[in-house]
Amino acid sequence: MYGCRYPELFGSYNVWTLLININSETTMKLMKFGFPILGLMLGSFSAHADVGHGKALQDQSCTQCHDSSVYSRPDRRIKSLTALQQRVSMCKKQAGAEWDEEETADVVEYLNTEFYHFK
Ligand code: HEC
Repeated sequence: MYGCRYPELFGSYNVWTLLININSETTMKLMKFGFPILGLMLGSFSAHADVGHGKALQDQSCTQCHDSSVYSRPDRRIKSLTALQQRVSMCKKQAGAEWDEEETADVVEYLNTEFYHFK
């Protein structure tokens, strides 16, 4: 009686290993393809710049040559978001601020939200 069951158990064991193998293969695929997607999702979340952080950075590094009135003066030079990004990058170097891309984006976002209002 039990003797007859062994092959059956063995057989179902094989089916399970097969399923598990398929599953872990799928898991591997999910890990390979899923994580970058997750990373992209997280990346796009963190791409939402932090205006408060940008203000703090600006207050800390950008007031040696001009105060924030240059951002709102009537004859201000910056006419587009791209120009603003470029200007911040240039002034960042002059200020000796070692900001990564995210921090730079925070400052651009702060200046744009507070002063420039480019779309
Ligand atoms: C070494 C001096 C210096 C430092 C430090 C500096 N800037 Fe400037 N910035 C300038 C000069 C010069 C101008 C041009 C002023 C002019 O056109 O009259 C300017 C202009 C700007 C403008 C354009 C204003 C407009 O006309 O619309 C922005 C934006 C700006 N700076 C951002 C920053 C930021 C952000 C920082 C901090 C990283 C910073 N600056 C630090 C020198 C500096």
